[in-house]
Amino acid sequence: ATALSGRDFLCLRDFSRTELERMLELARLLKTWHKAGLHVRPLAGRTLAMIFQKPSTRTRVSFEVAMYQLGGHALFLSAQELQLRRGETIEDTGRVLSRYVDAIMIRTYSHDDVVQLAAASTVPVINGLTDYLHPAQALADFLTIQERFGRLSGVQLTYVGDSNNVARSLALGGARLGMRVVLSSPVGYQLDEQALAMAREDARASGGSVEVEADPRRAVVGADVVYTDVWASMGQEADHDRRVQDLAAYQVNRALLEQAASHVVVMHCLPAHRGEEITDEVIDGPRSIVWDQAENRLHAQKAILTLLLGA
Ligand code: CP
Ligand code: NVA
Repeated sequence: ATALSGRDFLCLRDFSRTELERMLELARLLKTWHKAGLHVRPLAGRTLAMIFQKPSTRTRVSFEVAMYQLGGHALFLSAQELQLRRGETIEDTGRVLSRYVDAIMIRTYSHDDVVQLAAASTVPVINGLTDYLHPAQALADFLTIQERFGRLSGVQLTYVGDSNNVARSLALGGARLGMRVVLSSPVGYQLDEQALAMAREDARASGGSVEVEADPRRAVVGADVVYTDVWASMGQEADHDRRVQDLAAYQVNRALLEQAASHVVVMHCLPAHRGEEITDEVIDGPRSIVWDQAENRLHAQKAILTLLLGA
């Protein structure tokens, strides 16, 4: 057993810098082995339940494949087809699933639901995205950035657009890992003060920084990574048209990237809404590393699963 075994994965802030670096190191190792055709099965006989209250392509497939490749098994559970839909509580669901499976991954709306599920469950609970956070995404993104630049300390990540769940996890994790995080969002779409304060506190300890720069053209100056995400997240579809108007000046396009250094790379957690937050030309262009980024969900999550399940 290790210091990480049995723990939940709800927020990157629940882990020390050393623990996050350890996850990234194991992810790199598992990726290297996988590419070399060396298959290790530390999770033989173990099962992951995956509850989805929202759609998913990457998270669903990468967690399921990760469990399979590590020798275990994953169960896809649509919240619509569980007794949850008929009023069974999230706590009772967690108590029961804990008697069958070795870990639970959940994607849902309310972050509090995930916290309550974790409190009631006796097995590790993994956050597969809430309205508040997307920590598994951010961990994979740090793996991708580290591969590209050989380090995280001092690397400037400029996030442009809606400071949503993905942006919040990038800011919290980036601050803890010593990165220079710059957030560029219009009024009404900025990171909440509480998360900003937490990220800044961590940045002081790590030697990183977290800055807010509303002008996207200024925000990308000095960036090593320009990151964006959809303008209307899952659950915000009804508000789509207003959000597109409000965020129009924050599109990641060729003109914006001309303000950044020539070595800049572009990241997006996907799914992309081409022509809105990012242009075809940029996402399909030479600076885009979004497909490597998507692949790394698999490798990063293998590390999370291996460490939490204590193999
Ligand atoms: N990036 C991400 O989490 O994608 P999915 O919604 O497809 O899982
Ligand atoms: N911010 C997006 C991320 C999707 C992976 C959403 O919550 O819909």
